[in-house]
Amino acid sequence: MSTALTFTATEPAELWAEAGDAAAALVAGEPDGIANMANVAALIWQAIPDLNWAGFYRFDGQELVLGPFQGKAACIRIPLDKGVCGAAARLGATQRVDDVHAFPGHIACDADSRSELVVPVIAGDRLVGVLDLDSPVPGRFSAADQAGAEALMARIAEALA
Ligand code: SME
Repeated sequence: MSTALTFTATEPAELWAEAGDAAAALVAGEPDGIANMANVAALIWQAIPDLNWAGFYRFDGQELVLGPFQGKAACIRIPLDKGVCGAAARLGATQRVDDVHAFPGHIACDADSRSELVVPVIAGDRLVGVLDLDSPVPGRFSAADQAGAEALMARIAEALA
């Protein structure tokens, strides 16, 4: 399969829409959720600028467990009452954090991370896990990034389950 993906948009909304189209095409017809997470993490890493970590934590029914990602090696298990990821999973709501140092309980997997966007991945009524994006740039993620990432996850959640 060709994976010569190119992303040309400069506005976040358009960029996320391009990434969404590419992700939907990548996961189409593939039933393995972990393989699909791996490709989507790689795609987001390529498409979205200024990231130092992009990937998934999977919900095992009790806590979050490290899934496919791009970036530095990360902490493996995150209880739902810990960290930005745990908050997103527990609340079922995106966490957009402009300054991770100001977030109580933030887990610093990579000391370079300054801002973070965590989107719950929900297929039907089942929590599959979270998409976690980290940036070394403070305030990196805009409302448009949040909306784009949420739309992308909603579009392909079943393929990640
Ligand atoms: N910072 C996250 C932990 C995961 S790493 O960023 C990859 C958190 O506070 O949940």
